[in-house]
Amino acid sequence: MAKEICVIGTGYVGLIAAVGLSDFGNYVTGVDIDPKKIDSLNKGILPIYEPGVEPYLKRNLQSGRLKFTVDIDKALSESQVIFLAVGTPPKKDGSADLAQVESVINSIVKNLNGYKVIVTKSTVPVGTNRWIYEKLKEKAPTGTFDVVSNPEFLREGKAIQDFFHPDRLVVGHETGKAREVMEDVYRSLFINQTPMLFCNWETAELIKYASNAFLAVKISFINEMANLADAVGGDVKQIAKAMGMDGRISSKFLHPGPGYGGSCFPKDTQAIVATGKKYQIDMSVIRQAIDANEKQKHLIVKKLQEQFGTLEGKKITLLGLAFKAETDDIRESSAIAVVEDLLESGAQISCTDPQAIDNFQAMFPQCSYNRDSFEALTDADICIILTDWNEYRNIDLQEMGRVMNEKVIFDVRNILKPSSARAMGFTYLGHGVQS
Ligand code: UGA
Repeated sequence: MAKEICVIGTGYVGLIAAVGLSDFGNYVTGVDIDPKKIDSLNKGILPIYEPGVEPYLKRNLQSGRLKFTVDIDKALSESQVIFLAVGTPPKKDGSADLAQVESVINSIVKNLNGYKVIVTKSTVPVGTNRWIYEKLKEKAPTGTFDVVSNPEFLREGKAIQDFFHPDRLVVGHETGKAREVMEDVYRSLFINQTPMLFCNWETAELIKYASNAFLAVKISFINEMANLADAVGGDVKQIAKAMGMDGRISSKFLHPGPGYGGSCFPKDTQAIVATGKKYQIDMSVIRQAIDANEKQKHLIVKKLQEQFGTLEGKKITLLGLAFKAETDDIRESSAIAVVEDLLESGAQISCTDPQAIDNFQAMFPQCSYNRDSFEALTDADICIILTDWNEYRNIDLQEMGRVMNEKVIFDVRNILKPSSARAMGFTYLGHGVQS
């Protein structure tokens, strides 16, 4: 049966969950403290760039199954299922800050007017769901409720595809009643045989961290392999392809790049290391992956300096600022480290990106910006490709060569064909590729 749901927090995860759960036939209210955002969401305008979400937002607003509000008390009192999707930013020691979660718990206590299931969607440290349960029990001893951990695995840029076709759903729960409610909430996926894994709270919390940390390790691994391939004259694309043919390894997430970024891998790897420290378990594999990733970001400018000497006064154009394609998100993007290193080197920096210019310009007003790639490349001495946007994969090399001062490309994502670029007179540097 369809449920009355509220989703607290309309950031990335909360927004997609609200839109997706209403599309499954549930009645959903998205809650946020930002009235401007709520206003624009109620008009069907997305506050972020995420392909494919807008039609779902509009459709479900029109059907009356989806609405947004700042009135948390009303939304909580009218809902049977409460999804927590508020921020859990990292503290200085790498552990997660749960202040926003605690504030929502206080609001839930005031509105516990019947049995409710509180579902944690935000990525939270191991032990948080038990802590939420105990806090609620302490503050509302006569309240009837269950707590569920339901981590989210969607990727930015592919959110719709991942929400409607997940590889699996993870539900950490303690009672049969909570399990039944979650089967109802996700009935559309459940009847389509999406695997639903039921486990305890701690297991669900760890599954999320283990998955992100493993992928981060995989990326750091292939980046190191690319560095080594460069040094010995090997080709990392072929290495990754052959490795991926081994079903135990799989070919996914074996693409070398400028180091992983975004709001998830950097934060979650730090958080799991902090959890290990708390329980005196040395998470040395993940620690090394974090360290390798930090170094990888700084290898980019270093490699240019090794190859071309001083960069002082050179005009360097960055193609791509977002931490990956199909997003305007620049959080922990490697472009930040690259620009910091370039500023230190005395280079002149020109930047372009299909979606992320505004966010980046707010952080680095001293660089020059142009939405048009060729305008940004005009008179450049070196072009660094940092984000794997499709439009860069097919960039017109002839036009690029015509507008640049020196024909040098550093393709950190390996998205061009080295032989084609070289045939057109470019000095081409890749990341562990030869031809
Ligand atoms: C990641 C996970 O993939 C999602 O499953 C998870 O739900 C999400 O974090 C989260 O915890 O919320 P996301 O951060 O959106 O998703 O982006 P990814 O596609 O995983 O990429 C992360 C970073 O790794 C990007 O900087 C990307 O360019 C880089 N990457 C990815 C590589 O350098 N090489 C690869 O082969 C894959």
